[in-house]
Amino acid sequence: MAKITASVYTSHVPAIGAALDLGKQGEPYWQPLFKGYDFSKAWEKANKPDVVFLVFNDHATAFSLDMIPTFAIGTAASYQPADEGWGPRPVPTVYGHPELAAHIAQSVIQDDFDLTIVNRMDVDHGLTVPLSLMFGQPEQWPCKVIPFAVNVVQYPVPSGNRCFQIGKAIRKAIESFDEDLNVQIWGTGGMSHQLQGPRAGLINKDWDNRFLDRLIAEPAELAQVPHIEYVREAGSEGIELVMWLIARGAMSDVAGTGPAPKVAHRFFHVPASNTAVGHLILENQ
Ligand code: DHB
Ligand code: FE
Repeated sequence: MAKITASVYTSHVPAIGAALDLGKQGEPYWQPLFKGYDFSKAWEKANKPDVVFLVFNDHATAFSLDMIPTFAIGTAASYQPADEGWGPRPVPTVYGHPELAAHIAQSVIQDDFDLTIVNRMDVDHGLTVPLSLMFGQPEQWPCKVIPFAVNVVQYPVPSGNRCFQIGKAIRKAIESFDEDLNVQIWGTGGMSHQLQGPRAGLINKDWDNRFLDRLIAEPAELAQVPHIEYVREAGSEGIELVMWLIARGAMSDVAGTGPAPKVAHRFFHVPASNTAVGHLILENQ
């Protein structure tokens, strides 16, 4: 059967992708940031997944105000890196897993969550920057990727609790797929940042680190935090963090089938563009 072996959490700042693509990793501004992912790249080599179920948000790239799916699962065979205004990032095509994705759609929809099925989608920095941070700059991505897009751009956005609950349903779906697959689930976006208005540039290190503590130790309680707290404490784009609760909800301790996950890696860094960067690797035991 397919198994979720670990969850990975990381911010997805577009400037990180540009820094990598332009060979600026060694510059003094970026060096401390990329150092935080050296462990992660080695860990991915040692724990190579067959499939990454990648929870991210589209930034009005594939979707627009014309259509706003709350939860959208990619069932396509492949996805091209999107042109976000400067041409597509020079990163490999993302290959999907249509059979597993269709199975997840079937199971999660039958479990009463409404998903939009997406058979064609370009993927923006929300998806490609986490891949670059975790896998570096390979010729081909080392695994299949199932994109799972969450609307955190246009209100109303889903609550932390809705995300946590759908994570549980995604776990049940993945672990009932009849093929031996090592699956990781990634939650991306955040941490504190605000890109516009009088509070542009807002960073809240204390709140972010408390979020990391609680994500590890008390995710069900963390899932009760309302939107207004994310926006007040972590800025308007800090709301991206609800996506991390999907990945956390898919871990075995939440399902009651395993102990608390092992914290394999924890990293926090400011600055990276306008964003506080947070990163965790949690292993199912
Ligand atoms: C930045 C961060 C984001 O999450 C994003 O989607 C766009 C820009 C930034 O920090 O610049
Ligand atoms: Fe973003």
